[in-house]
Amino acid sequence: MGPQRPALPGEGVEAVSAGHPPGMSETSESAYDASPFVPGGADLAALRTAAETCRGCPLHQDATQTVFGEGDTAARIVLLGEQPGDQEDRKGRPFVGPAGRVLGEALEEAGIDRGEAYVTNAVKHFKFTVEPARGKRRIHKAPSLREMSACGPWLEAELGLVDPEVLVALGATAGKGVLGSSYRVTRRRGELIEREGKPPVLGTIHPSAVLRADDRDAVYAGLVADLRVVADVLR
Ligand code: URA
Repeated sequence: MGPQRPALPGEGVEAVSAGHPPGMSETSESAYDASPFVPGGADLAALRTAAETCRGCPLHQDATQTVFGEGDTAARIVLLGEQPGDQEDRKGRPFVGPAGRVLGEALEEAGIDRGEAYVTNAVKHFKFTVEPARGKRRIHKAPSLREMSACGPWLEAELGLVDPEVLVALGATAGKGVLGSSYRVTRRRGELIEREGKPPVLGTIHPSAVLRADDRDAVYAGLVADLRVVADVLR
């Protein structure tokens, strides 16, 4: 088998990772779960503060900080990404790096005000590897299923408070996080998926796919077209 490239943001959830991160024993790995850290009855500000010290999985060990969601409870739309990237990890805010810039432009073109959205990620810590051959750059690694589900209680608490009219899942990982592991962004993107007792989900590509594409204009146009479906819902 040839060398494997690292998974790209939003590309999908890898199989449960083998091996244990430093400082994490077999026993503690099997207990990945953020729920003991999520305070009951908390508002967004209290959730954010509590998330700063989340130890529900090992990802906090190497990340700079928790990157919690941003926005307020009146938001009509939730934008859900996979996990913070390098810049988000440094700045402590979601979607403030290159993918965030693409997202901002696409939202504007689709007629959606980012300021009116609650922006968050399925996983709240940056997962990466450092490859010396690439100048010590921190290279994104896809979160494992276990890390995704460990972090789920934070997202559940956020969605319980924000209760948007529509949730936009950016990329395969975010889509699987809210629609289940059988979700395929390639098959269902741009479709408003209704859910019993929960806000509908519109899945689309991750904005970083635009940055990686050979034909950026076409891929970007597809993202904007999907977001226009959301803009229509909000009209
Ligand atoms: N990619 C994501 O999925 N989320 C971010 O916050 C940044 C990049």
